[in-house]
Amino acid sequence: MRIDIITVLPELLRSPFEASICKRAVEKGVVEIEIHNLRNYGSGKNKQVDDYAFGGGAGMVMRVEPIMACIEKLQSERSYDAIIYMTPDGKRFDQKHANRLSLFENIILLCGHYKGIDQRLRDHIITEEISIGDYVLSGGELAAAVVSDAIIRLLPGVLNDETSALTDSFQDDLLAPPVYTRPAEFRGWKVPDILLSGDEKKIDNWRTEQALERTERLRPDLLE
Ligand code: ADE
Repeated sequence: MRIDIITVLPELLRSPFEASICKRAVEKGVVEIEIHNLRNYGSGKNKQVDDYAFGGGAGMVMRVEPIMACIEKLQSERSYDAIIYMTPDGKRFDQKHANRLSLFENIILLCGHYKGIDQRLRDHIITEEISIGDYVLSGGELAAAVVSDAIIRLLPGVLNDETSALTDSFQDDLLAPPVYTRPAEFRGWKVPDILLSGDEKKIDNWRTEQALERTERLRPDLLE
């Protein structure tokens, strides 16, 4: 899979892909991540990418031309399954959405700034709009990193058995059950006996019960 990220702040997007699971996925060649500085497509000597809003009002708007120039350059090199705009008024991101995007070959993530992008881009070129939650970030970069991370860990060959995504919270619409490791007792705090019993069937049943109980208690909305 290939993820192209378009941003005015490329430095905000480097470190998430330089550590841990995402780094390993890049090194293995499972995913290619390219970060494009929108300023390289800006006009004039200041490489301007924003301008005043027609009709007045506070805040700048990201211009059509630099964004189209960058997207069209990418489209001249390969075709894209989705051109996604990161914005707080997009569709709320969840595990199902991550699962769907992980099946794509090439996607573009466009990070918004200021008051957002010219509406004509949203009308004519953007295929999906994603929000990572009902709060406003300073820009779409951190949201793009969140979405990329959620996708990358699902790609075949990225996780091994120990870290398998199949047992993650949300994969079956349930929260994950509690987990424990050694020691079996710490300051009188004990690990549930059943996990030490060696009886795999009982342990599986216990985990399912725990997952259900936690979901009912903490996220009843998932069971509706
Ligand atoms: N840009 C600013 N806030 C955002 C959010 N919550 N989700 C996605 N992109 C954003």
